Amino acid sequence: SLGNSSFESDFLQCLSQQSQTSIPVYTPNNANYTTILESTIQNLRLLSPTTPKPYLIVTPLLESHVQASVTCSRKNNIQIKTRSGGHDYEGLSYLSDIPFVVVDLNKLRSVSVDVQTETAWIQSGATLGEVYYNIAAKSRTLGFPGGICSTVGAGGHFSGGGYGTLLRSYGLAADQVIDARIVNVDGEILDKTTMGEDLFWAIRGGGGGSFGIVLSWKVKLVTVPSTVTVFTIFKTVQQGATALVYKWQDIAYNLPEELFIRVLLDVFNQNGVRTARASFNSIYLGSKENLLSLMNQRFPELGLTSNDCTEMSWVQSTLYFYGLPVNGPLENLLNRNQAKFFFKAKSDYVKVPIPTVGFDGIWKRLLEQDYPLLIFVPYGGKMDDISESSIPFPHREGNIYQILYLTHWGGLAENEERVSWMRRLYAYMAPYVSKNPRAAYVNYRDVDIGQSTNGTATYLQAKVWGGNYFKNNYDRLVRVKTKVDPANFFRNEQSIPSVANA
Ligand code: FDA
Repeated sequence: SLGNSSFESDFLQCLSQQSQTSIPVYTPNNANYTTILESTIQNLRLLSPTTPKPYLIVTPLLESHVQASVTCSRKNNIQIKTRSGGHDYEGLSYLSDIPFVVVDLNKLRSVSVDVQTETAWIQSGATLGEVYYNIAAKSRTLGFPGGICSTVGAGGHFSGGGYGTLLRSYGLAADQVIDARIVNVDGEILDKTTMGEDLFWAIRGGGGGSFGIVLSWKVKLVTVPSTVTVFTIFKTVQQGATALVYKWQDIAYNLPEELFIRVLLDVFNQNGVRTARASFNSIYLGSKENLLSLMNQRFPELGLTSNDCTEMSWVQSTLYFYGLPVNGPLENLLNRNQAKFFFKAKSDYVKVPIPTVGFDGIWKRLLEQDYPLLIFVPYGGKMDDISESSIPFPHREGNIYQILYLTHWGGLAENEERVSWMRRLYAYMAPYVSKNPRAAYVNYRDVDIGQSTNGTATYLQAKVWGGNYFKNNYDRLVRVKTKVDPANFFRNEQSIPSVANA
């Protein structure tokens, strides 16, 4: 195995040969190593004293520093893990079982918005909050269909698809990407033209970590009205939540695309009694008045009233959905100090409504857990109009909603018990969700589906998770990978394999 200190000096020497300017590097001897490593680790489940740590962390300040990192990692035959926002559910951006370095793009985070062309260049290390903030600084009627959590990094998010409350009107973040800059395995920077159609297709949803290091993305911005309306309605099981959620399954994906109503199922404490409930959490791209009349026609059972609704700008709605005060400063979107949790998550796709008896079992299981959360995200609208092979993200027409399962807890000692609860819930759900393959969302990474040590899976091994995440797009992803990175330099536990030597 690689001697730590000789590796270090060889690597550092290589970096200084490759770059005119000094490249910030943190080795375990550096006082800031642990702070930098832990800075964006979102899932505390993966931060134990025994989890493998990188030989060093590079924090590039310039694109050329990323090129140098790739060149020197290859030369020293060490694995790279690329990290943008660090939100990977399984920590694949900062963990590995073999010697590795982390290239942390945290400092490559500029967002430049061009209102005239309604486009923006976004560096991978920018957070979604920074994207929304910078758009709002220039326009009240432009937005971007990215995720709800403002600390998520653009790099991983766009690589896996990325969705939020504008999903039904505009599709995914990756659907908006019109150009990108990537460092390939040879340390060259390619753009849309020089990388070619196949690679440009693969990086928009094929999952991070398989094809290179994406430096930045050019995206189309989307039009939003200057006033939008939001509401959240809570119903406990005793107040008829089951019947409403059952009904929601038929309604939500068929609504006009300007209306997005997701449902959160959780448990809360009501006068000392743990109570299961559903929250109907919504944004409408229009006025309160129009929303009320639409809801009255399409979903009167929910009983929406004027008092439940609040009008605001689109950027304020990003604060609302993330749980920040809507009248507070927009600068809150720039706060990178997110709350961190010990958590485990999984995802599913639903094609036919779950019968009410199915919900009885869901509520029962939620009540067993301290902090369970299921989020039902309605599809339909624009998602139905985009073909399954337009980008690698395949979950389009025929899916009525997506499920995110999440549970969080207080300490490492509970990891095993909580994860096994999650696995039992997932097993219980099998009859009600998509099958052959049981589809999953790559950005809700779940290594239970299958993984390989060191990213050494064969075509067939990786087809297990590749099929769930990408369905029929898996084969094209393998062809692209084999062409652009035949020796499988860019890899992780669930990466796309190269079949160059198979
Ligand atoms: P991170 O840096 O961990 O990277 C994720 C993966 O991409 C890793 O494999 C990494 O190596 C690779 N990668 C990162 N940067 C790369 C680059 N520049 N080039 C190539 N590969 C790169 N999703 C969603 O669609 N909607 C949502 O609302 C939310 N909300 C949400 C909330 C919270 C609290 C969490 C923890 C996660 C979400 N997500 C989400 C999921 C999120 O989209 C997913 O975890 C992204 O991959 C995170 O991107 P980061 O850059 O933060 O992760």
